[in-house]
Amino acid sequence: MKKVYLETFGCQMNVSDSERVATRLAADGYEITPFESAADVVLLNTCSVREKAEHKLFTRVGQVNKAAADRGAKKPLLGVLGCVAQLEGETLFAKSQAIDFVLGTRAVGRVSQAIEKASGGENYFADLGERDEIYDWSVADAQRHSPYVAFVPIIEGCNKFCTYCIVPFSRGREKSLPASEIVRHILQLRSEGIKEVHLIGQNVNSYRPKTDDGLEGFRGATQFSRLLRVVAATGIERIKFTTSFPRDFHPDIVEAIGENESLCNWVHLPVQSGSNRILKLMRRGHTIENYLERIDIIKSSPRNISLTTDIIIGFPGETEEDFQATLALAEYCKFNSAYVFKYSPRPGTPAYAMPDDVSPILKTERFLRLDKLIRFHQQAVFRDYINKTVEVLAEKISEKHPNQISGHSTCQMVVNFEGAKDLLGKIVKVKILESKANTLYGKIC
Ligand code: SAH
Ligand code: SF4
Ligand code: F3S
Repeated sequence: MKKVYLETFGCQMNVSDSERVATRLAADGYEITPFESAADVVLLNTCSVREKAEHKLFTRVGQVNKAAADRGAKKPLLGVLGCVAQLEGETLFAKSQAIDFVLGTRAVGRVSQAIEKASGGENYFADLGERDEIYDWSVADAQRHSPYVAFVPIIEGCNKFCTYCIVPFSRGREKSLPASEIVRHILQLRSEGIKEVHLIGQNVNSYRPKTDDGLEGFRGATQFSRLLRVVAATGIERIKFTTSFPRDFHPDIVEAIGENESLCNWVHLPVQSGSNRILKLMRRGHTIENYLERIDIIKSSPRNISLTTDIIIGFPGETEEDFQATLALAEYCKFNSAYVFKYSPRPGTPAYAMPDDVSPILKTERFLRLDKLIRFHQQAVFRDYINKTVEVLAEKISEKHPNQISGHSTCQMVVNFEGAKDLLGKIVKVKILESKANTLYGKIC
């Protein structure tokens, strides 16, 4: 039996694709191995959102090659999947001779076929074009990142074309899965012991299926807020969703959360910049004023909804004044956490034609200043949880402390507490006693 080692970079969409790839391979008689050195086939599921992520592919290809040579073993078959595969296609064969096959984002379903062809010496390549593309929406049943938490893709692709972003090119146009299918997947997952589903997509709240199948009888201001009520009615214990796009964030989402205990109190709403001038250059389709309006609605919910975001610093033309506006925004929003990225020019995007004129030193300096401010507020937000009781899904035994269980709260915080294996998979109440860098510590009550 051929052994396959699969490594995933990038976002949850890639993690979810990898789960389906592994499930399919297992069904086709392959064995998934956690050891690269034992593998006949190495698959790298790639990300291209920033230059660094893209470079990782070539670094890893080199390492896989060298490791095999050092062992005196034959080089494993090497397959590249995901966003770099979609964008660079067959040109990858010329960039590295070690690469044997390439599968674009919507062609991952052909993985077994690709391995077979590549075993015969062919440089196999497939990327399904926009017209005949079929995204595999099925939920994985053999391989999952957690026995209790599952990712459920509800929308794939992106139509927004923010000027800096490669995703609309690597993932194609938005396509939404009918609600009736989503419900079917969730009921299946629930019967398999899944406690928490994450509805995932580049922009979940842009969910716009062509049919209302499965939404009938459920009210809501948008198809997405109707879907939230539909999913809540499945009886699955917890529902999270990510990522939300600010322009499409309707207050009815907050209403739906308020009505349903199982809709978790967490919203990830990437703002990207605090300056209207930069937001316009980014073509984000929202202003700071309407972003803050949404933040105020989220924060006024009695559910104590936690808020996370993404921010890019050093976008072309970003001045100290623009950056100050981003600091002011972070000061106002007091995010539970924020991912800060240095702007990385992506070939083929509109921003690539703009001069990348914020120097690397200045990018680092702004990164550190913003990061410090965010951490400062984050610590205050975390301390606010002390002496409060939160509901935590007991997900795994802590790696550092075997007498502790680690899980996530409804507000998507990592919480550790003392407990034994029999708690795994249960949702328990934990009183928070202490907060450290990125984790809360508490005791079960
Ligand atoms: N659809 C989501 C984001 C998907 S990409 C949204 O619009 O909010 C994840 C994050 O990567 C983005 O939010 C952005 O902060 C960052 N990102 C995307 N392109 C980037 C680039 N060229 N340079 C730096 N960061 C980038
Ligand atoms: Fe990229 Fe913008 Fe689409 Fe998000 S909304 S994936 S940042 S183009
Ligand atoms: Fe990366 Fe592709 Fe996701 S570029 S962030 S893996 S959609």
